[in-house]
Formats: sequence, C-alpha cells, structure tokens
Amino acid sequence: MDAMRLDKLLSNMGYGSRSEIKKMINRGSVSIDRKVIRNPSFKVNPIESIVNFEGKQVFYRKFTYLMLNKPAGIVSSTDSKDTNVIDILDEKYKHINLSPAGRLDKDTEGLIILTNDGLMAHNILSPKKKNEKKYYVEIDGSISPDQMEMLENGMILKDGEKCLPSRIEILESDEILCKLNLYIIEGKYHQVKRMFAALGRKVNYLKRISIGKIVLDDNLATGEYRELSEIELKNLPVSKD
Ligand code: URA
Repeated sequence: MDAMRLDKLLSNMGYGSRSEIKKMINRGSVSIDRKVIRNPSFKVNPIESIVNFEGKQVFYRKFTYLMLNKPAGIVSSTDSKDTNVIDILDEKYKHINLSPAGRLDKDTEGLIILTNDGLMAHNILSPKKKNEKKYYVEIDGSISPDQMEMLENGMILKDGEKCLPSRIEILESDEILCKLNLYIIEGKYHQVKRMFAALGRKVNYLKRISIGKIVLDDNLATGEYRELSEIELKNLPVSKD
C-alpha cells in the first residue's frame, strides 16, 4: 500500500474528524516509529510503520465495520430528518462515511451492520449471496399449520409479490401470544410484516437476530454497538461477482 497523510489515515480509521485530528497531531499525541510527529500532512505507510495515537498502537484497517443493536424509534435511513443510526454513534464514527448494510423499520430492533466498505455492503445485501436473515417475531395468538405451510412454501403477498420459501421455528405459542423465529433470504420492503399481513396477522414486535453468519451479540443492549471481531470479519460474505 502507498504512504498516506497521517491526518487522513487517522480520520479514516475513526479517530476523529480531520480538524480534531490535526489539533491532536499538533499537540504531540501521535508518534510514528517512536518519534512524535506534529505535521498532519506527514506521509506514513501504516503497514510498514508503527503508529501510536495517545500511547496506543493504531492497527491499520482500511474499512470500519460495526454491529449495532438498533433500538426502536431510530431510523436506519441516513437521508431522513429523524434521528438515524449514525446519529447515535460516538463522534469518532460520524465522519467516516458509515452506512447501514440493509434497513430496518423505525419500530424494529436488532442487528444492523454499519460499514464504509461499499463492496461488502453490496455483498451483504445481494440476494445472490443468499444471506439468510433471522428475525424474532411476536404476534397475537397461535399460528395454524396451514399458515405455517404458507410462510414456508413461498407465499404471495397482498400486492401479488411472491416470496421465496422461508423457515419458521415456533418458540412459544398459545391462544394469546406466539413467539417465533423466521428465517428469510430476501430483504423486500417491510417483508416480515407483509408476510404476516398476508395471513391477516399483525407483527407486534420484530427484532433482527442475524444476517448470514453474523449474529447479534447478546451483550449489546439496544442502542449499543461494537466493531466486528476478526472472526466475524472472516465470516462476512466475500465478493466474487
Ligand atoms: N421486515 C419488516 O417488516 N421490517 C423490518 O424492519 C425488517 C424486515
């Protein structure tokens, strides 16, 4: 890889906005190969040199990948006036062009992957990759065997759109409440709610649990997020198209 400006490297990696980083470099917070560098435009090759920021080594990553447990009441679309998934991140993640790879409705909770790696976002979303998404769903009352069969066999939505077959796992069911996991491959607009609406049922609670091999971390409360681990990164779909 080519050498790049020190301030650009650090802002790309989410250490702050370009202007904040310039100030910190001027103040002497950054060293390269143990030598303090106060020039923000200094060219560095982060693979060949050891860069330290406030005493901690910077491990170079070209892109950032976050796993967020989206709370209800926040939109995933970043072009909306409502508070969105980027607004709730730390300042250091707000300036690195993160976007959600896939959307969730305002009232849906759960897993959203945020990244500035456009190709990876494309791979996560591409139906060709057949990334199964797991949703936890709550509806009023039980589901009949006929309704289960319709969900599993590839149903026709109210507007005539056809869904691919899905898988369903009933967790708890009685005449008052049904809790279930639904696994779908596509990501049609409001797909889960529309599938249940086609059965005359309303989804009362919806949470995305996983996308492909990436599973929402149980330790993340709603509104919390963390960077993907090395193992999770290896499990992201690889681009071959
Ligand atoms: N299906 C829906 O209906 N809503 C979501 O947010 C995600 C999947």
